[in-house]
Amino acid sequence: MSFSSLEIRTLSTPQELFDAAAEEVIRAANEAVAARSRFTIALAGGNTPRSLYHLLASNGRTSLPWEHMFFFFGDERHVPPDNPDSNYRMANEAMLSKIPLTAGNVFRVPAENPDAAAAAALYDQTLRQFFAPAPGDFPSFDLILLGLGPDGHTASLFPGTAALQEKSRLVVANWVEKFKTYRITFTLPVLNAARCVAFLVSGTDKAPALKAVLEGDASGEQYPAKLVRPSNGKLIWLVDRAAASELSKSAA
Ligand code: 6PG
Repeated sequence: MSFSSLEIRTLSTPQELFDAAAEEVIRAANEAVAARSRFTIALAGGNTPRSLYHLLASNGRTSLPWEHMFFFFGDERHVPPDNPDSNYRMANEAMLSKIPLTAGNVFRVPAENPDAAAAAALYDQTLRQFFAPAPGDFPSFDLILLGLGPDGHTASLFPGTAALQEKSRLVVANWVEKFKTYRITFTLPVLNAARCVAFLVSGTDKAPALKAVLEGDASGEQYPAKLVRPSNGKLIWLVDRAAASELSKSAA
C-alpha cells in the first residue's frame, strides 16, 4: 500500500518538536475549515502530546478556529474519564477545558463502560453517525495525531494483538496481554483513511523503535506503527534529535 506523501522532520529539541506539531495542527485546521467548514482531529494519548496540547491552548489560542473543531480520541484506556490513566482526562486538563470550543464537539470514548467491547461498539457508532461513511468506507479524519511506544505500538495497536487484523470495524476493544487489560482503539483502516497522520516521537527511549519502524525490515506485526500508511493522505513523522539518534545519518 503506497501513500501520497511521507515527511520525516527531525527537530533539535522537544520544544521545537511541539512548536512544529502545533504549526501542523494550525495548518491542517485552517485548511480543513476553509475547504469543508470543519476540522476533525483525533488526539493521541500518553505523555508526549501533553506539551503540544498545552501549547495549542495557549499560543494556538488566536490562530485556531476552535468553534469549527471536532475532537475525537484515537484510543483510550479502559478507565473512567476522571482516572489518572485516561487519555481524555489528560487532554481535557491540558487543553480542552481551556479553549472556547463548542459544547458537544468533543467525542470521548465511553471507557467507563465495564464492558470494553460495548464501549468500543458505542464509539464505532459515534464515528459512523458523525461521518456517515458509505458502506465499506471509512471516516477520513483531517488529522490524526499518534505517538510511538518503545515496542513500536501506536494508538492501542500493540505488537501481536488481535486489533491489527481488523479490516471492517472502526473501533475495537483490544486485549493487551502485557498490561492484562483492554484498550479501546481506532483500527488501521481508520488511521489509513486520514487526510493526514502526524506521529510525535520524543526521547532516546523511542530511538530503537523509531529506527525499526522507519528503517528496519521487521514486520508490522512486530512494529504496528509500520502499518500506518494513509492510502490517500500525508504521513508526517515529527521526531526530536534524541528519538532520531539511531536513524541513519541522512534522516537524523
Ligand atoms: C496511549 C497512546 C499510546 C502512546 C504511546 C507513546 O494511550 O498511551 O495512545 O499509543 O501514544 O504509548 O506514549 P508516550 O507519549 O507516553 O511515550
